[in-house]
Amino acid sequence: MQTRDKEIVAQFFMCTHEREAGESCAAAGSLDVFKKLKNRSKTGPKWQGRVSVTKSGCLGFCHEGIAGVLYPQRKWLTGIRPGDEDNVFTWIEEQLKS
Ligand code: FES
Repeated sequence: MQTRDKEIVAQFFMCTHEREAGESCAAAGSLDVFKKLKNRSKTGPKWQGRVSVTKSGCLGFCHEGIAGVLYPQRKWLTGIRPGDEDNVFTWIEEQLKS
């Protein structure tokens, strides 16, 4: 076992959970939103190497739309919809300032 240091200041976990029946973030379009945020985290000058975007399982907010949580800030974002990528980006930037 080894410890590792990374320069990441935050990690955004986004639910991409899928169910065969019933509400889920995947059914609400979370995978497309995730891919756009992930791409921005890898290529955007503000996030590159600072913010990681990671898929997660169900975060328990299925009834509110797509959900995500930012760590280590422990800030939740729910009700995300496809097309909200810029709003999520702005929200994460605001969290990093506080
Ligand atoms: S399926 Fe995404 S929060 Fe439950």
